[in-house]
Amino acid sequence: MSKKTSFFEKIILFERNLKESIPEIKTKIPIKVKKATKKDAPLFKEIGFGNDARILTKKKFYSKIESGAKCFFVIHKKKIIGRAWISFSNNEKNLRLLHAIKKTDGYLSNAYVLKEYRNKGIHQRLLYERLEYLKKIGKKRAITIISKKNKASIDNISKIGFKPKKEFLSIRILNFSFII
Ligand SMILES: CC(C)(COP(=O)(O)OP(=O)(O)OC[C@H]1O[C@@H](n2cnc3c(N)ncnc32)[C@H](O)[C@@H]1OP(=O)(O)O)[C@@H](O)C(=O)NCCC(=O)NCCS
Repeated sequence: MSKKTSFFEKIILFERNLKESIPEIKTKIPIKVKKATKKDAPLFKEIGFGNDARILTKKKFYSKIESGAKCFFVIHKKKIIGRAWISFSNNEKNLRLLHAIKKTDGYLSNAYVLKEYRNKGIHQRLLYERLEYLKKIGKKRAITIISKKNKASIDNISKIGFKPKKEFLSIRILNFSFII
């Protein structure tokens, strides 16, 4: 069957005020969380740099890191089992479309936990680390965008205090996205 070339999708912009306290997260397995540098690229072989591997290539990983975006990753037994990003600029396609980002915002994106390590608190911990980081560097708000049908992710970020701000309809035709 041919690959889908267009679709409509409801997406929700979520926000979290960084003034509110951030609960510390304990994971069910021992892990370490690190902030990636370009040298860490080979470690990302299995998990990839972003949720769409066609878009977030190694070259883009380098330029994203150079632009100041931060990639946090989780190590368990010397292997990456989860990763997630923070960006600060309007270079992010979805945000540019929504015109949502402010200088005092951090945009959380591209979270992924390997299937066999899910529901062990790994992403809650990645959220905790990123929210604490944003707070430390003086940001006021964390924002993120999630597809309305991604219940696991919506429940996950709501658990740490994100609230829905606005709903959009995204229309994707081939590689072009439109938001209405
Ligand atoms: C969403 C995702 C990152 C969650 O990671 P995780 O490490 O398994 O999540 P945690 O263990 O830290 O958190 C567990 C909480 O998440 C939510 N959750 C996780 N899986 C869920 C599911 N299948 N249905 C509903 N809620 C779910 C719940 O709130 C749960 O808390 P609870 O056990 O008290 O109900 C992971 O499922 C994933 O990688 N999904 C694919 C990629 C993706 O959707 N990324 C987010 C969009 S950018």
